[in-house]
Amino acid sequence: MIWKTSINKMTGTKYPLIMAAFAGLGRTEFASSFSNAGGLGIITGLNYKIGNFKSELIKMRELTDKPFGVNFTVLPPGVREFDPLSNISKEDYLKYLEIAIDDGVEVFTTSAYQANHLGERIKEAGCYWFHKCALLRHAITAERAGADAVTLIGMESSGFKNPFQHTTLINITLAKRLLKTPLIAAGGIGDARGFLGALGMGAEGVCLGSAILTTKESPASQERKEGWLESDVLSEEYHKQLYHRELKGTRVLSVATAHQKKSISIHEFIEGMMVEASEILISWGFKEDQFTILPE
Ligand SMILES: Cc1cc2nc3c(=O)[nH]c(=O)nc-3n(C[C@H](O)[C@H](O)[C@H](O)COP(=O)(O)O)c2cc1C
Repeated sequence: MIWKTSINKMTGTKYPLIMAAFAGLGRTEFASSFSNAGGLGIITGLNYKIGNFKSELIKMRELTDKPFGVNFTVLPPGVREFDPLSNISKEDYLKYLEIAIDDGVEVFTTSAYQANHLGERIKEAGCYWFHKCALLRHAITAERAGADAVTLIGMESSGFKNPFQHTTLINITLAKRLLKTPLIAAGGIGDARGFLGALGMGAEGVCLGSAILTTKESPASQERKEGWLESDVLSEEYHKQLYHRELKGTRVLSVATAHQKKSISIHEFIEGMMVEASEILISWGFKEDQFTILPE
C-alpha cells in the first residue's frame, strides 16, 4: 500500500510516521534506523553539545540516504532540571538551528514550550516546522505562528506531562474541527489499529515514542527494554505513574509498548505495523493500492 498524506508529502518519507524526540535516547544511530525503515527519523538536537552537532549531521548522512529531521525541545521556564536540556539560552537554540539549516536539514520539530522564535527562522530558511504540544490552545497558537504541522500529545503519552492534557482522541477530533494545519497524533500509539485510528480521528501522521524504545536499535539498555516489555500495564501502580496530573515527566513508558512481546528491529516493527494497517483496510473493503489524504 502506498501512503500519501500531507505529512509524508512534506517529509518525503514512505510512511506518515514521525519519530518522537527523546532526551538522552534520540541519538543519530537510532534516528537513522527510523529513517531507513520509512519514517522520519529525528535527531534530538540537544542530546549533543553544540561543538559536536555538525559531525552528528554528517554521520547521519552516512547512515541514511532517507529524509530525517531535527528536534529542538524548548522547556518551559521553571522546568529546567531535565538534563541534558538544561541551561540552553534562546541564542544557543538559534546556533544549533543555523548548523542544521546550513547542513540542509529540511524538517524541524519543536516541542514542549512555545518555539515561535525557532519557527520563524525555520520558515524563513524555507524548511518545514512541525510543533509538538500538549494542549489544544497551544496548537492554535502554533497554527497562528505558521507551523506547517501540529503534533498533539494525548495524556496516554509518556514523557513530559501537562496536568490539563486531554486524551489523544479528544485532542485530534477537536483539533480537526478547530485547525486547518495538518495534524500528527502522539500518545499511546503502538500498532496498526492505533495508526489507523489516528487517521480516522483526523490526523495525517503519527508520532511514535514509547513503542520504538523497546526495539533493537533503541540505545536503551537491554535490561531497561526487558523491564518495559514486562511492565504490567494493567496494574494500579503503573496507572498511577502514567496518568499523574502534574507538570513533570512520567516514570514509565506509555501503553504503546504493550503491543509488543519482544524486542524486534525497528524495520520489522514499522513494516509489521504498516502491512497490518493495509490488511485491516482491505478487510474493511478498501480496494485501492494507494491510501491518500491530501487537501483537495
Ligand atoms: C524517554 C523519553 C524521553 C523523552 N524526551 C523528550 C524530549 O526530550 N522532548 C520532547 O519533546 N519529548 C520527549 N519525550 C516525549 C516523546 O517525544 C513523545 O511525545 C511521546 O513519547 C509520545 O507518546 P508515546 O510514548 O505514548 O508514543 C520523551 C519520551 C520518552 C519516553
